[in-house]
Amino acid sequence: KMTFIEKDGTVREVEAPVGLSVMEISHKHGVDIEGACGGCLACATCHVVVHPDWSGKLSEKREEEEDMLDLAFEVKKTSRLGCQILMSEELDGLVVALPGAPLPWEE
Ligand code: FES
Repeated sequence: KMTFIEKDGTVREVEAPVGLSVMEISHKHGVDIEGACGGCLACATCHVVVHPDWSGKLSEKREEEEDMLDLAFEVKKTSRLGCQILMSEELDGLVVALPGAPLPWEE
């Protein structure tokens, strides 16, 4: 499972099958992440802010991802592109917020 925090602060826990990206999972559940380029690192519309407890568990950012994040809005230290986060057993319980959503861990 994983959790999305939506822009209005709604917390949604959803099934997150291993091997799918956070962007694909959001689409399955109607969470408002665009993912305009379909996951090929050519847009920044799948930007999510990762809970700090989880950000260290993710794979390193590729340079292309850094470049795309430079173009995104509301970027935070733990921002990532949702299409580059692939669910695995270790990421079970992952929490991410949509850009602009209230971040419970910053309060
Ligand atoms: Fe375009 Fe992730 S969907 S960069």
